Amino acid sequence: MQGFLSDPDVAARILDHISGESTDEGDVVWREPVANYVSPERYQRELDGVLRRLPVPFCPSAALPEPGSYVARSAAGVPLLAARDEEGVVRVFRNSCRHRGTEVAQGAGCSKSFVCPYHAWTYRLSGALSHVPHERGFPNLDRSEHGLVEVASREEQGIVFVNQHATDDFDWGQLPDMVGGGQRLLAITEAPVAANWKVALEGFIEGYHIRATHPESFYPYGYDNLNLVETVGRHSRVTYPFRRIESLADVAPERRKVLGLLTYVYHLFPNVLVTVLSHHTNLVVLEPTGIASTTFHVYTMTNRTDAGSDEDAKARRDAEFVNDSGGAEDRAIVESIQRSISTGANEAFTFGRFEKAIVHFHTQLRAVLAE
Ligand code: FES
Ligand SMILES: [Fe+2]
Repeated sequence: MQGFLSDPDVAARILDHISGESTDEGDVVWREPVANYVSPERYQRELDGVLRRLPVPFCPSAALPEPGSYVARSAAGVPLLAARDEEGVVRVFRNSCRHRGTEVAQGAGCSKSFVCPYHAWTYRLSGALSHVPHERGFPNLDRSEHGLVEVASREEQGIVFVNQHATDDFDWGQLPDMVGGGQRLLAITEAPVAANWKVALEGFIEGYHIRATHPESFYPYGYDNLNLVETVGRHSRVTYPFRRIESLADVAPERRKVLGLLTYVYHLFPNVLVTVLSHHTNLVVLEPTGIASTTFHVYTMTNRTDAGSDEDAKARRDAEFVNDSGGAEDRAIVESIQRSISTGANEAFTFGRFEKAIVHFHTQLRAVLAE
């Protein structure tokens, strides 16, 4: 699988677009029926046939930095629990006690074992059932048959993937160099957004809206409708250059470094984004919580190439700025779309040549649903 462009090639193509007043364009205009955003049947098929069937990023390795680290959250509506064991191996389980189903962990933290809050059945990091209070009440209980139920998972290049149905393999080809095992986690945040997960996603992967939606937040640093849009397999990357990238015109092409001069937004099909900004990287999971609601699970990390606590402060400041300014503007737009969806004004939404990554997403989604 051919990968994304190298940084010097990205820089060259952006400088060409700046001088030519052009942008990357797709070949087709796509009409996506609005029914596909409101149909409960379609929503259920997206959960069962896509989000639970494919390998999907669950969290970055940085969220599980040491033995005992765990992250519990729902993925496609199913409560899961990822934990790193004493040997450093990450496992993912269905977060459901084998006694009567209570979730055995919440949120994120570090623990030697998982003690169910209901009657205190206790599980090791490996998922094995290690303790049952007053066990004589369960004659003949085979503990080895009552460990937490494991879900297929794999940790690769700084990301923990899960595959709930394990019907697909984990071949992602060469993952781009966006997340690595050595990055430090700065924060995990959750934000509910009153919009369908696809509407929420679409807000991240085109730059046609930057000038109109973000006149005072992002646009002063960026361009009007100037982006690179690449696709690799089912995935895509949209590049948002800052105006300061023009300084690279005076740098030899092979020596051009782009970090800090642009934002990369990777869309990892179907519902995960990795945004690489000047001082921090976010892995954002768009978790559907209903047909018209989504929770953003945001894992904020240092950048791959950053080191030292100075960078942490800059990263936190930047993350706050992006979230409170442009991020809030984006969330307001997608919630506005969601409110209007039931008006019946649109039978379809139209995605044009500049919205190529969204066209790619819908093309892929349709293909996976048809498999
Ligand atoms: S439900 Fe977990 S110990 Fe009873
Ligand atoms: Fe935006």
